[in-house]
Amino acid sequence: MDIKLIQKSLTKTEIKFITKDELKKSRYKKLLDIAGFEADEGSSCFLYEKEKLFIGVEDKSNDSLRAACALAARNIKTTNFSTVVIHVNKKNIKAIAEGLILGDYNFNKYKSEKKDKKITIELVSKDSQDLRELLKEAKITAKATCFTRDIVNTIPQDINPKTFAELAKKLAKENNLTCKILEKEELKKENCNAMLAVGRASTFSPRLIHLAYKPKNAKKKVVLVGKGLTYDSGGLSLKPATSMVTMKMDKAGACAVLGIIKAVSELKLDVEVHTFIGAVENMIGGNAYKPDDVLKSRSGVTIEVRNTDAEGRLVLADVLDYAQDKVKNPDCLFDFATLTGACMVALGQYTTGVMGHSSKLKHLVSKNAKEAGELTASLPFNKHLKKLLKSEIADICNIASKPYGGAITAGLFLDRFIKDENKNKWLHFDIAGSAYTEAPWDVNGYGATGAGVRMMVEYIKNL
Ligand code: BES
Ligand code: ZN
Ligand code: ZN
Repeated sequence: MDIKLIQKSLTKTEIKFITKDELKKSRYKKLLDIAGFEADEGSSCFLYEKEKLFIGVEDKSNDSLRAACALAARNIKTTNFSTVVIHVNKKNIKAIAEGLILGDYNFNKYKSEKKDKKITIELVSKDSQDLRELLKEAKITAKATCFTRDIVNTIPQDINPKTFAELAKKLAKENNLTCKILEKEELKKENCNAMLAVGRASTFSPRLIHLAYKPKNAKKKVVLVGKGLTYDSGGLSLKPATSMVTMKMDKAGACAVLGIIKAVSELKLDVEVHTFIGAVENMIGGNAYKPDDVLKSRSGVTIEVRNTDAEGRLVLADVLDYAQDKVKNPDCLFDFATLTGACMVALGQYTTGVMGHSSKLKHLVSKNAKEAGELTASLPFNKHLKKLLKSEIADICNIASKPYGGAITAGLFLDRFIKDENKNKWLHFDIAGSAYTEAPWDVNGYGATGAGVRMMVEYIKNL
C-alpha cells in the first residue's frame, strides 16, 4: 500500500465513513437503502457507479475511524479500483493511516501464490503541509507493528532461538543499534540457570539478546524485556494437542519489543531504549527440565518447578535480573509476555493485562495505550495471592497452589525478581490474549496483532 498526502485530488473513487444519523440525510440514501446498507459498525457498501465506498461507523472518533479504515483496506482489494481518496484532518490522519496499513497487512510467506493487490491511497487535506510529520509517524509505527506481526506469524521451523538472534542482529545493523547476544556458555557464566533449564531439551540452545538505541542527549532511559518462547510445547507438563496449536506466538513479547525499538529509532525519539529478549524453545526429551526440579536463578532465588508449562516466568526471572544489572537507574522497566491463559479468562481476548506497584505509572501507560488504540486493564496485586507461591523446599514455586487469579500470581512471581529500586518503575504486560487472533477484530486480521507496539511508541514519544 502506498499512502500519499495531497491538497487536491483528481481521483474520484472515495471512501466515506458514515454514521446512522448521517445516512438519514445522505444524498445517496436511496441507493444505499436499495443495497440494504444501514451504516452498522463494521458494515460496508460499494456504490460502483458513484465510485464511493461507504463504511458504517458508530461515531467519528479515532478508534472508530481506525477500525473502519482497516475494513476499507480489505474491501478495496476485492475491487478493481487501485487508487482511492480519503479526506483527512490533523486530528484523524494518524488513526486513518494506521488503520489502512494495519488492515492492508497480509501474511503470505507460506502461500505458493502471493495474491496481494497494491493499492494507492490519497489522503486529501487543505493543510497538507502540517500533516506530513503526523503521516510519517503513523507509517513508521504501523510498519513496525507489521514487522512484529511478521515475526510472530513465522513458524517455529524458521524462527528458533538461533534464527531469532540473527534476525535481531539484522535489525540492529539496519537501524544502527548496539547488539549483544549471549549464547549457552556465556549464559552459564551469567548463572542464567532458569532460562537454560527451560531450553535444555531443544536442539537450539537459548539466546539472551540485548539491543540498545542510544541517541545523543537522551532525556529518559527505558528498559523493555520480552518473553521470546519461539515454541512452547509445555515441556514435560505437555500441552494438550489443541492448546499447542498457535504456540509459535509465545515469542510475541520479544517481537513486540523489537518492533518498539525499531519504531523509536526510526522516529529518532530522544529517549534511550534497551531491549532484552530471552529467546528459548520449550520442548520435551530425555534431558528436559522436570516438575520437581529446583532451579537456582541468576538472582540467587531458588525456584521449585511444579509445572514446566509455566516456563515464561522462569525465562523472564533471569532476563529481568540481567537487564537490571546492565542498565542502572532506568526511568521505567517494562516486560511484555504471552504469560498466562488466565489473563484471557480474566479480561477477554482483546485486552492486555497490566500489573505493577505504581498506580500512577499504570494509569499513564493505559492513557497512552487508549490514545494509540490498544485496550489495557489493570490487574491488582494483593498479599493473599502472593502467599500462594510459597514453596516448602525452595524460595518460590513456579505455579500458585490455587487455580484462581493465575495472571496475577504470574505477575507476582516476576515481582520477586524486581530489585527494590525498580519496584515503582516496573510494569508487567500480559499479552497472551491481545497478541494473536484467529478471527479478525478492530485493525487485526488473522494471526499476530502486534500488541504492545503502538501503545509503547505513544508512551515513549510522550515521555
Ligand atoms: N504461553 C503460555 C500462556 C498462553 C496461553 C499464551 C494461551 C497464549 C495463549 C504459558 O507459558 C503457559 O503455558 N502458561 C500456563 C501457566 C500455568 C501452567 C500456571 C497457562 O496459562 O496455562
Ligand atoms: Zn507454557
Ligand atoms: Zn509460554
